[in-house]
Amino acid sequence: MNPGKRPVIIYGGSFDPPHRGHAALAAAALRQLRPSALYLVPGFRTPFKDLKPVPFADRKAMLLASLSAAGLGGRPEVKVSSFEAGLRRVVYTWETVAHFRRLHPGAPLYFLMGSDCLADFPKWRRTDLILREAALLVGMRPGHSISGLRGAPFTPLRGVFPRAASSDLRAPLFCGRSPRELQPAVLRVIKERGLYLSSERELLRREITPARYRHSLSVASLAAELAPAAGLPAQLAAFAGLVHDCARDMAPAALVSYALRRAPRTPMLRTLIKEAPVLLHAWAGAARAAELFGPLTPEIREAVELHATGAPGMGPLARLIYTCDLACPGRDFPQAAMVRELARRDLDAAFRAANYVKLVYAFSGGGWVHPLSVELWNSLQEKKNG
Ligand SMILES: [Fe+2]
Ligand SMILES: [Fe+2]
Repeated sequence: MNPGKRPVIIYGGSFDPPHRGHAALAAAALRQLRPSALYLVPGFRTPFKDLKPVPFADRKAMLLASLSAAGLGGRPEVKVSSFEAGLRRVVYTWETVAHFRRLHPGAPLYFLMGSDCLADFPKWRRTDLILREAALLVGMRPGHSISGLRGAPFTPLRGVFPRAASSDLRAPLFCGRSPRELQPAVLRVIKERGLYLSSERELLRREITPARYRHSLSVASLAAELAPAAGLPAQLAAFAGLVHDCARDMAPAALVSYALRRAPRTPMLRTLIKEAPVLLHAWAGAARAAELFGPLTPEIREAVELHATGAPGMGPLARLIYTCDLACPGRDFPQAAMVRELARRDLDAAFRAANYVKLVYAFSGGGWVHPLSVELWNSLQEKKNG
């Protein structure tokens, strides 16, 4: 290392989305080390993790907006690097450090991170290679102290930096909320580029009534909150929640003619038209969602088609949307809040309770009840008793 050379800082992360904590850490590192370069290096996001991952170009646009909003815009030493995203695979930090070492031979290299990451550092691959080429530059999170940190030797940044995690901000974004950890400039880029389902929400908002749209956001929010417990990606759950009622505002006559034009002419279709045409909105919703948003995955189609009746053998997404549709905030019957609280503790129990509440409601009305709802009830009893 050449002590005469100015330092170079590498700042890796998903930046999906970039938040105030990222900008604060970058600003402090620039103030303290006066580097010749600070590289923000968004990692590759696997396309299988999300229904619609945010591409590098969009993350770069959000990062540039965030840096500008933090007063770091236009500084030539601040750069967004496509090194990791361009490789289109998971890239280990030792590879990134080696890349920037080749670009800056002899310069003191620093790898920037929040103190919450330091404890995990020993589990990273080839930490020997990282520490041979670079020093760790660590910003303190609230509640952490320099003396209390374990993991590896590091250089502390002066100051305390807000704790925020991009992964916690995505679920609210999918459901149309604006987390305060995001700068308004970043929120504008998200809207302009239609990221985090904002373009889908806009299409949906034009398709259904304001009250239905509020209900759809409510189902999406609860589904995204409960998605980790169901082993599902929040984006998938939020999308299914958003679109489940996209045909609910069709008039009964329009719903019937839509179904007659598109649905297979089964005896059940004739029965539904006669006994409960409103239930056609679930089947029609899946067909309409595919017209609006492109082909649906089988699990999303199932979740939309079965959200009103349920059916034996539903998959995890369909069970989640069925439960959230009944239990979301905004439902005006008392069982909704009870099932919602139950769902936060035990999703399977909440699913069974949702089926019970729906059946009691249907039977108390004295009319025709969809056989799939009764079959679901029976299948759940068999599992319980078996
Ligand atoms: Fe519905
Ligand atoms: Fe609904």
